[in-house]
Amino acid sequence: MTAAPLNLALVGFMGAGKSSVGRLVAQRLGFTFADSDLFVEAKAGRSIAQIFAEAGEERFRAMEREALELLVAERGLVIATGGGAFVDEATRRLLLGSALVVYLEAPFETLWERIGQAPDRPLAQSGRERVRELYERRVPIYREAHVTVDAARPVEEVARAVEEAYRAHVGTR
Ligand code: S3P
Repeated sequence: MTAAPLNLALVGFMGAGKSSVGRLVAQRLGFTFADSDLFVEAKAGRSIAQIFAEAGEERFRAMEREALELLVAERGLVIATGGGAFVDEATRRLLLGSALVVYLEAPFETLWERIGQAPDRPLAQSGRERVRELYERRVPIYREAHVTVDAARPVEEVARAVEEAYRAHVGTR
């Protein structure tokens, strides 16, 4: 491994396990873990729910993009992105050009169960069918990631699969 390892970014729908898997993968690779949602909240001094309510989704997307621009300037990070980050075209291009992007894929039913009642997720408030539509619209975009990993299994297994995908990728570069 080089002194300045390629970043790894996790993308996927709400409930895919981006943060919990990301933490484990960072430990396994000896990388630093970063969570773009937490980064945005810390920088804004407001919760994501507050940002959506007070400034709107478009502003949140811009803040998310700015946060990720700062993060990918670093090296050796495992970045858990928010579920809509990769759907934004500019953010998608940024991530694809600066990280190995791994899509954590799971069926809608699995994700919906994991999301449960999540008052901190503004886009999960619109009811099952609306959220399912959002999922269906996003899946083809998530599949533009460099690698897709099955995330409908225990978090340790998913983390191991992501680590293997990363090592296989950097080993062949
Ligand atoms: C969002 C997902 C959330 C958060 C925000 C918007 C989305 O992140 O960024 O509520 O558009 O899917 P998680 O995927 O970590 O819940």
